[in-house]
Amino acid sequence: MPNDANNQLTIALAKGRMQDDALALFAKAGIVVAESEINSRRLILTSTDGGYNFILVKPSDVPTYVEYGVADVGVCGRDVLLESRAEVHEPLDLKFGFCRIAVAGKREVLGEDYNLLATVRVATKYPRIASEYFQARGIPIEIIPLQGSVELAPLLGLSDRIVDLVETGRTLQENGLEVIETITETTARLIVNRASFHLKRVAVSALITTLAKAL
Ligand code: PRP
Repeated sequence: MPNDANNQLTIALAKGRMQDDALALFAKAGIVVAESEINSRRLILTSTDGGYNFILVKPSDVPTYVEYGVADVGVCGRDVLLESRAEVHEPLDLKFGFCRIAVAGKREVLGEDYNLLATVRVATKYPRIASEYFQARGIPIEIIPLQGSVELAPLLGLSDRIVDLVETGRTLQENGLEVIETITETTARLIVNRASFHLKRVAVSALITTLAKAL
């Protein structure tokens, strides 16, 4: 990929659980970042061919960087996209990072009979997804917004239920909680800034094609 302004792409990657899988997929597609860069604490990494800059950001911030055009492209979970509703293109399911977004809690406390309570308190990092899900079912809820360790909320009496990401189910199990209902499933997605999709059409299309082949 020639390294000029129109072809160089900036890619926002979700730090954490998806970062390794994302970099592995890019490497399989021939877009390699040196191990020394990956193992450093740098937040901007450059591919060995100089054609791509990767910025490492908090998962929920990926759509923001892409929507505002600071990054042309991003990799984040469908969960984050559903919550952010950012206006971006979503051309590719990258088929890693399989998780469920689920309602969880202690089944014996409430079962599925939400009518037992006037308002169900729901702790979550996903206030929009949780509100829409319960609203569609006519169940009045109060959202308790949390940024992490959401499983603590029902254990400590802060909430009746949580809406959270479930991957292996271990965190729920080891904290005496279980999935009550699955809201939807999520995988990693490639997202593209709307302007970059047109202005950097050649580079963006080449990236989509190469990644699709590497899947
Ligand atoms: C996520 C999620 C659950 C856990 C699920 O949290 O919110 O807590 O992973 O994974 P499991 O089903 O494999 O146990 P994350 O690790 O992102 O940390 P957080 O609690 O800080 O949000």
